[in-house]
Amino acid sequence: MNKDKALLGSIDSESNDRINQFIKILRKVCNHRVLNLHEPFFSGNETKYLEECVSTNFVSSVGKFVSKFEEMLSELTGAKHVIATVNGTSALHLSLLCLGIRSKDEVLLPTLTFVGSANSIRYCNAIPHFCDISEDDLNLDLDKLRDHLKFTAEKHHVHSINKYTNKRIAAIMPVHVFGQPVDMETLLSIASEYKLTIVEDAAESLGSFLNKKHTGTFGEIGCLSFNGNKIVTTGGGGAILTNDDMLAKQIRHMSTTAKIVHPWELSHDEIGYNYRMPNINAALGCAQLELFSNLLENKRNLHMKYKKELDGIPWLRLISENKESISNYWLNTVIVKNNEDCFQKRLIETCHKEKIFLRPSWKPLHLLPMFQSCPKSELNTASFLRKKIINLPSSAFL
Ligand SMILES: Cc1ncc(COP(=O)(O)O)c(C=O)c1O
Repeated sequence: MNKDKALLGSIDSESNDRINQFIKILRKVCNHRVLNLHEPFFSGNETKYLEECVSTNFVSSVGKFVSKFEEMLSELTGAKHVIATVNGTSALHLSLLCLGIRSKDEVLLPTLTFVGSANSIRYCNAIPHFCDISEDDLNLDLDKLRDHLKFTAEKHHVHSINKYTNKRIAAIMPVHVFGQPVDMETLLSIASEYKLTIVEDAAESLGSFLNKKHTGTFGEIGCLSFNGNKIVTTGGGGAILTNDDMLAKQIRHMSTTAKIVHPWELSHDEIGYNYRMPNINAALGCAQLELFSNLLENKRNLHMKYKKELDGIPWLRLISENKESISNYWLNTVIVKNNEDCFQKRLIETCHKEKIFLRPSWKPLHLLPMFQSCPKSELNTASFLRKKIINLPSSAFL
């Protein structure tokens, strides 16, 4: 009993030393009193463009900034077509619908992602099918995905069927988690083998590239988010990227309530969605994109500062890009290794008291009540890492 107490005491004091060391490093790297996880950085024409919208009354669905924003995104990402939407979730929803994802279809996705990824699948009455993540970059584990499909999927001429549920496995939604690019070359070959449509969730990865190709441009469609916590914000907003002319036309039509273009007549030819980004949001986005290379450089510099301080520490691992990729380092992320069960929780609690607002990653989606009965592969890595992942303050001005 006494021996156990002594052991617990030594683990406790080791943990405290580690937490103090960690706080010191964060203060040194970031040099700010209050450290939020990710704040916007406005340093260009944001106010000027917003004032222009207000003074000209072009604040809603008509105005020059929306198409300008789409053109700027097209140039940055290399996507032939860009359709700006009210947020990233609506971009994913509309993409799945226009790609023909229907009721009871299964869509593969990682269990470690924002809830919006899986919600967008449910909005189509389709079914999320959760897959495990890789310890290296926290993205989909593609070896495990291949094994899972070998075991679960029956290949047919135009699609694959889940042998156990008898449902069509129609699509896959890779997520470039925290800005780290998924190995899309490998994923493309798996998708082609099993006839899966790809909708890339690139909500977090504007400015991240794999082999010089922008994330979100490998699959049929890619979706971005411009929520207030992203590298570029429009307040709330999203965008759909595609190189397919017909698809782009259909998505644009459906995002504007399926309204038939006419100077005064108000007529609609199917049930569409009011998902078009308003001009006032796009104005903010245009100003942000004008300074995008600075934002990206700042974020990559912040990662290098974290790397310099954290690399030699044996009890944690900072996730960095690999040779083929460029990451926007949307959220710098560490994985802690510690004997104490509640170490991650204690570290976060202590940091919050110090006004350092770190965050654990999302709870894996297969554990949420509304997704518990969804099909899934073995999810050991996500379950294990859940209590080890910590996102660090990553605002571009740090
Ligand atoms: C991975 C991921 N997917 C989807 C979304 C949804 O984007 P939004 O919040 O703009 O609806 C987000 C962002 O919030 C995200 O991080």
